[in-house]
Amino acid sequence: MSSDDWLMLDFEISRLFDGAPVDEEQMFAGRLNEVTKMLRTVMERSRHVVLFGERGVGKTSLSNIFWRRYGKTLQSFVVARVQTGPQDDFSSLWIRALEELKSVATGSGKGDYVPIQTEFESLTPSQVRRELQKISPNALPVVIIDEYDKLGNRDAKILTANLIKELYDFSITTTVILVGVAENISELVEDHASTDRAIVQVPLNRMSEDELKEIIYQRVSQTPMKFTPDAILTIVILSRGLPFFTQVLSKHAALNAIEQRKLTVTNADVDAAMTRFINDTEVSFRDAYRAATRTNQKSNLQESLLACALAKCDDEGFFKATDVVEPYSAIMRDKKRIAHFEKHLRRFSSEDGGNVLVKRGGERQQTFRFADPMMQPYVIIRGIQTGMIDEMAKKLLLQKQQGELPI
Ligand SMILES: Nc1ncnc2c1ncn2[C@@H]1O[C@H](COP(=O)(O)OP(=O)(O)O)[C@@H](O)[C@H]1O
Ligand SMILES: [Mg+2]
Repeated sequence: MSSDDWLMLDFEISRLFDGAPVDEEQMFAGRLNEVTKMLRTVMERSRHVVLFGERGVGKTSLSNIFWRRYGKTLQSFVVARVQTGPQDDFSSLWIRALEELKSVATGSGKGDYVPIQTEFESLTPSQVRRELQKISPNALPVVIIDEYDKLGNRDAKILTANLIKELYDFSITTTVILVGVAENISELVEDHASTDRAIVQVPLNRMSEDELKEIIYQRVSQTPMKFTPDAILTIVILSRGLPFFTQVLSKHAALNAIEQRKLTVTNADVDAAMTRFINDTEVSFRDAYRAATRTNQKSNLQESLLACALAKCDDEGFFKATDVVEPYSAIMRDKKRIAHFEKHLRRFSSEDGGNVLVKRGGERQQTFRFADPMMQPYVIIRGIQTGMIDEMAKKLLLQKQQGELPI
């Protein structure tokens, strides 16, 4: 290959693993059940969807893609997407949604299907319902309200819930999809008990290892490059179910291989990718890490935080203090008990520790998770980078399944 070819390959890898929300069907991995559930709801034309989960699990991507799965056969989708901002009230949000519906319909030659008015000073739920009622039954209108958790205005939340209920009661064919960061639906939807029948809940969890592998295969197969199975496994395990990290680590590893004029990406390239990642990572991670582990005393805050990041967790990212014992002992190379790091957990989930962890449940059933899920792979990669996990432990960690650290 000429140096121009290598440069082109470099660009191609950077484009393929760009870490932006997915908006092309062939770049979207896994999530079959969720895609089907959402499509079915839209096709039924009576109920609405609330899609929720941790930051970075792929909510925006799923809402971008699910309706394109059968896009060829279902030409009549008219999909409007709006982002919620902290300044929004009910009117500003829903005026934008109506404008977007109309403009998308017009842009795709379906303007006749969507003869709605968008010139409003302010809006009530019934007015929105009356406009949506005008849409032709030949169209499959969908309104996606992304980042709905950012909506600060409580009235706007109540009115949006009222709107959903009204759309349901009047059998309006437009499907509303509320998307947001939340642990459960009541965090996102005001008075959800009264809208219960009108809503299909789609919780989105972290991705499985197979789904993360699929992300790598799908993208790299569009280039002449290959990843060794080892390299793929390392990337997948480090990603902790978060597809963003799979993309960033794959990108850095592949770029490292390209620099050395190799078409096969190995574990050595993944090691180099970790260094690159730590070097050009967002300042926000670094600050949060420092805030959590800063101390005057000799305590092992960094080790504890790493152990938390490595602890076996459920697919929503929650772990218990007992799950931290194993990784903490492995890192400290000594048999440790909960008492050794209990106060660290308390610190991490308080103002003092920058609230890097959030706590759930009472004294007895307490569980923790990283407030920002993205912090978790960061902490692990940093731990490997600074030698907190020795070569041996790392090999074993990467060979074994997540969390089952040997001591
Ligand atoms: N199904 C998927 N296949 C491939 N990449 C994905 C998938 N879902 C998410 N991603 C990637 O994960 C990252 C976060 O996705 P995004 O949709 O923005 O998450 P959220 O909206 O939940 O914060 C992005 O880099 C995106 O490219
Ligand atoms: Mg999003």
